[in-house]
Amino acid sequence: MAILVCGGAGYIGSHTVYQLIKRGEKVIIIDNLQTGHRRAINPAAKFYEGDIRNFSVLEKIFTENEIEAVIHFAANSLVGESVENPLKYFSNNVGGMQVLLEAMKNFCVDKIVFSSSAAVYGEPEKIPISETDKTSPTNPYGESKLIMEQMIKWIPNLHYVSLRYFNAAGAIESGEIGEAHKIETHLIPLILQVPLGKRDHITIFGEDYPTPDGTCIRDYIHVLDLADAHILALNYLRNGGKSDIFNLGNGKGFSVKEIISAAEKVTAQKIKTEIGMRRAGDPAQLIASSDKAKKILNWTPKFNDVEKIISTAWKWHKNNPEGYSDE
Ligand code: UFG
Repeated sequence: MAILVCGGAGYIGSHTVYQLIKRGEKVIIIDNLQTGHRRAINPAAKFYEGDIRNFSVLEKIFTENEIEAVIHFAANSLVGESVENPLKYFSNNVGGMQVLLEAMKNFCVDKIVFSSSAAVYGEPEKIPISETDKTSPTNPYGESKLIMEQMIKWIPNLHYVSLRYFNAAGAIESGEIGEAHKIETHLIPLILQVPLGKRDHITIFGEDYPTPDGTCIRDYIHVLDLADAHILALNYLRNGGKSDIFNLGNGKGFSVKEIISAAEKVTAQKIKTEIGMRRAGDPAQLIASSDKAKKILNWTPKFNDVEKIISTAWKWHKNNPEGYSDE
């Protein structure tokens, strides 16, 4: 029996595939390579190039392989883009989920681990954020993830785990795969472009937030810790665990300025900064309570030092300054 990974050529998907294969799982990947990369596809996995909105591709995969469960990453994930083009998010994310669930139902595949996001919470009511807190997305990306979570919930006999990630960061320690977005908007890769000589400075989006140093605080979680949580969630469902939702974060917050200082230590270079305007829709603080994942899934994040997280990202970016430059 194999695990179907939708979006296995993307950042978090490719790291999860790596960990699944390391643990002896048989993996099938579907990816349309819109934001994923051919070079990120693990050669030990069987790859289908296609879009999950295309029912016939899914039908082919489910016919040709014995699929035990699905891990679903295939989605667009840029907050800013989602505000400009919400229908792209409702088509790819929500529409993709609908077709995937249809195919799973037809082929009696009854387990799914879903890549959700802290973006479902919007402006938090309290810190740290718990799974029972109010969900009130402030952008179409977060809304699409919330709708996807809710769609799964209504499917009879489907066992699911939805994982709400906070700020994914870092890369595999060997430096084989890493974070490479065709459009980069994330803080850590952008900071590292300064010591790489690819950008002159990093702009700090606002210094007047109600935080100790005035810059936004986020909860950075290593991509391999996220990958491990997916495997624990899969095993939890295999063992008859009840469908549920879990936050995934380190439970510690770092401000933009603290991340820049940590990156200066890791790279041993001074990083030039400029203070810019606030970015629309940025909450001052987002910190997860991951107690539930720790207790129920037995998840223990191994990378709880932010310099360690940044150093794995630095290794990848230093060796691959153009990302997956074969494309
Ligand atoms: N930031 C800067 N300068 C930059 C880029 C980012 O100051 O050039 C700041 C942002 O304003 C924010 C922090 O750095 O305060 C982190 O920003 P990211 O864009 O790296 O991450 P976000 O917290 O905005 O978003 C992440 C995920 C989203 C997800 C969200 C959920 O990338 O997919 O967390 O909380 F929706």
